[in-house]
Amino acid sequence: MYVRVAILVGSLRADSFNMQLARTICERYRDRMEAEILDIGTLPHFDQDAEQDPPPAVADFKRRIREADGVIIVTPEYNWSVPGVLKNALDWASRVDKVFIGKPVMIAGATPGMLGTVRAQLHLREILSSPGLQARVLPPGGNEVLVSLAPQKFAGGRLVDEATLSFLDGVVDKFIAFIASP
Ligand code: FNR
Repeated sequence: MYVRVAILVGSLRADSFNMQLARTICERYRDRMEAEILDIGTLPHFDQDAEQDPPPAVADFKRRIREADGVIIVTPEYNWSVPGVLKNALDWASRVDKVFIGKPVMIAGATPGMLGTVRAQLHLREILSSPGLQARVLPPGGNEVLVSLAPQKFAGGRLVDEATLSFLDGVVDKFIAFIASP
């Protein structure tokens, strides 16, 4: 099965490990998945007064989510939670036409620290289950892509650690099957 996936990256940093992970995902599975990294850094701050007729960048972002078969969120952990830029994008997506309802979502994250963004991922699962989002998130239990000690695992702008890549292969396989399943 060939799927179209939108990727959201929670870091705007030029040398972001999470962006490197997102680019690795785009390239490594391109035979089975057309993946597009959406630019969430240019979305304006969420404003409830603008939600009915949002700025063009927001309307375009929501359209791309709506048209995708699934979404992969690749994010760092900031202060034990998700970065504001990602929460902002999710807040826009959660209103009016609520483009995440039923949308298959896979979560991944990288950090130089030991815990692989686990706290952010737990928060993110909670956020994604809120009434405005109601995403269909790939269940935990073997599917947590938690890349710890990132400086040792990336080189040349890509994830290169073989054990992590092999684990990622398995999770992406399950995500593609999850998208296909009712
Ligand atoms: C961090 N960092 C961090 N790391 C972590 O594992 N847990 C945390 O709670 C935090 N908190 C945090 C807050 C803020 C404001 C910053 C800037 C950083 C460190 C973070 O993991 C590190 O900077 C990563 O390299 C960020 O991801 P990218 O930019 O490499 O994708």
